[in-house]
Amino acid sequence: MGLKKNKTIETAASAKSLEVKISGITFKNPVILASGTCGYGEEISQFIDLNSLGGITTKGISLEPKSGNSPVRICETASGMLNSIGLENVGVKRFIAEKIPFLRRFKTNIIVNIFGNTIEEYAQTAKQLSDAGGIDAIEINASCPNVKKGGMEFGKSSEGITRLVEKVKEVSCVPVFIKLSPNVSDIAELARAAESAGADGVSLINTLVGMAIDIKRKKAVLSTATGGLSGPAIKPVALAMVWKVKNAVKIPIIGMGGIMNSRDALEFIIAGATAIETGTANMVNPYAVIEIIKGMTQFLKDEKLSSINMLAGTLKT
Ligand SMILES: Cc1cc2nc3c(=O)[nH]c(=O)nc-3n(C[C@H](O)[C@H](O)[C@H](O)COP(=O)(O)O)c2cc1C
Repeated sequence: MGLKKNKTIETAASAKSLEVKISGITFKNPVILASGTCGYGEEISQFIDLNSLGGITTKGISLEPKSGNSPVRICETASGMLNSIGLENVGVKRFIAEKIPFLRRFKTNIIVNIFGNTIEEYAQTAKQLSDAGGIDAIEINASCPNVKKGGMEFGKSSEGITRLVEKVKEVSCVPVFIKLSPNVSDIAELARAAESAGADGVSLINTLVGMAIDIKRKKAVLSTATGGLSGPAIKPVALAMVWKVKNAVKIPIIGMGGIMNSRDALEFIIAGATAIETGTANMVNPYAVIEIIKGMTQFLKDEKLSSINMLAGTLKT
């Protein structure tokens, strides 16, 4: 009996050591499922306990439902994957009616990724979500490379980012994060614009533009020719961008891009991320996030650190 109690205390203590805060929201650990790689949480909840996670970022939601691009829209590459899903989603009304009640059954933070064809559409989607309640934060997708219209045109310039953040902030009563694209010349400048406009955090990075070719057919593998590259191939790029942005802004950073294990996750924390999201890893191994949480806890023990926050931004250069 005594042993059991001690064990409980030990688990609670190690759980606390991973706790992070972003704009007033407490995350029991810094590990979040990345948008688009776990839908609305239903399928992955058959493999892992969503209560164990810091949070889940849902598939990008728009004002109206969207069917996405036609196949082929996923393809494997040497060290990652290409996708051109095209932001397929059920639309904000069905999301509120059907998906939030399911997600709310779990004690984890729900971050809703949103996008629109116009800034007004972003704002309307954010307002409906905010009014409905039950969500913890909004992540503005200003960076999808796989659709003709979908935020990239606003995400490429400081002016676009500023207008987007200001409009969404105006109608939201939850913290607003903005997810930036790596397909720009200076990500730090865009992060600064987001901070000045009132963003509560920046998520980075989204996928890089990539391509695969079928040499027999002499055709691009994806129906859209190019798509978004994710997975281990983009990790060094993502890490460098997190570090660059860390040196440019004070608002918290949620880092992602090629995080497959706890070692990768810790690299992002050391580079300056407060929390991390994993995407492609979930598709390769649905237990990846649980293994990452365990690995982080072990690392803190090995390094005799009482809190993950002691590690954040400790990169020596
Ligand atoms: C199949 C797929 C769908 C995605 N859909 C979205 C999306 O709807 N909104 C978004 O902001 N990012 C989306 N992303 C980007 C991921 O959230 C993440 O930023 C990117 O994949 C890098 O992380 P990773 O290397 O861990 O996958 C998607 C990625 C993949 C692979």
